[in-house]
Amino acid sequence: MGTSSRRLISPRGIAPACSVSRVMRSKQRSTRDLTRRISPRYRRFWNVVPLARRVSNCKPSAAGSTLASTPEKVMTSNRRELSDKIAVVTGAGRGLGRAIASVLAERGAHVIVNDRSLEPAEEAVEIIRGQGGQASAIAFDVSQTTEVEAAFGRILAEHGRVDILINNAGIGDFVPFPEITSEKWDRMLDIHLKGSFNCCQAVLASMKARKSGKIVNISSVAGKRGDFIGNAHYTAAKAGIIGLTKSLALYAAPFEINVNAIAPGLFATELTSEMSADMKATTISRIPAGRLGRPEEIGRAVAFLVSDDASYIFGETLSVNGGSYMD
Ligand SMILES: NC(=O)c1ccc[n+]([C@@H]2O[C@H](COP(=O)([O-])OP(=O)(O)OC[C@H]3O[C@@H](n4cnc5c(N)ncnc54)[C@H](O)[C@@H]3O)[C@@H](O)[C@H]2O)c1
Repeated sequence: MGTSSRRLISPRGIAPACSVSRVMRSKQRSTRDLTRRISPRYRRFWNVVPLARRVSNCKPSAAGSTLASTPEKVMTSNRRELSDKIAVVTGAGRGLGRAIASVLAERGAHVIVNDRSLEPAEEAVEIIRGQGGQASAIAFDVSQTTEVEAAFGRILAEHGRVDILINNAGIGDFVPFPEITSEKWDRMLDIHLKGSFNCCQAVLASMKARKSGKIVNISSVAGKRGDFIGNAHYTAAKAGIIGLTKSLALYAAPFEINVNAIAPGLFATELTSEMSADMKATTISRIPAGRLGRPEEIGRAVAFLVSDDASYIFGETLSVNGGSYMD
């Protein structure tokens, strides 16, 4: 470790490396004192956990070894807060969907991995099981209403419920506005927007009946900001997903169903591999964090939104974009 990274920034400036352990010891002492001063009742209420215990609860991600671009940097919690939850993730045979499925399984959910065909879905299931998670595969095309209805009918018959739905399936098509044909427009909106609508419709009645459910729709930074090259069919679909999320959230909130969205920035997946090198370099130069997102960073944002920690969040579109767009 270099000298500069061993320095702590304090209100008085930069503390030299030799004082790091002194600062850590005094921090631990003050956390212990605070914990002691708060009565057990309030301790539970404030969820005051000593720093040392919080740190020891972190372990390197199992998902990282197969899914992360830089696995050594991945730290996830060993919480199993999604135990007994049934989660469906669409388009989870690869990319962000696979990372989402992996993180949800790591947190204890049984994940039903969807993709257009069975092969990639089964591949993802194998990885998740290899990591000690529970998963099963199902193939359907999210844009085909009858296929979606039949698939969710089977899922509900087999598992009795869907606690969590993640609408992630999508396609890319990085073309300038004049090249968007009517067919391209329809396909894009059918998969992203109608696909999300189809799956929401398919789970809503059972979530309402149980007065419980979590839905997360994957939008995009492009849906909030627009896209520089003008691929308006993609951005319109992603902006539509934000509208769908808000309207459904308003409708479903009284039934204790949280509907939210995530707007990822640029992540290294097959979808973005279609971008030209120039386009990618320009996009990265506009990311304050100075790097592409790691797929498991979307997985963890999803895990937060479907957890009890997010029980009072409705209709939000959470940006996960390295600071490239703030609204
Ligand atoms: N990668 C990024 O930088 C990025 C940024 C913003 C938003 N997103 C969104 O995240 C989602 C996942 O993107 P990704 O980068 O992982 O893409 P990807 O191409 O790597 O994976 C998408 C998956 O969806 C599946 N799929 C496509 N159409 C489907 C359909 N009709 N029915 C079922 N499955 C279908 C594909 O087979 C594939 O497995 C997409 O909605 C995408 O628009 C990605």
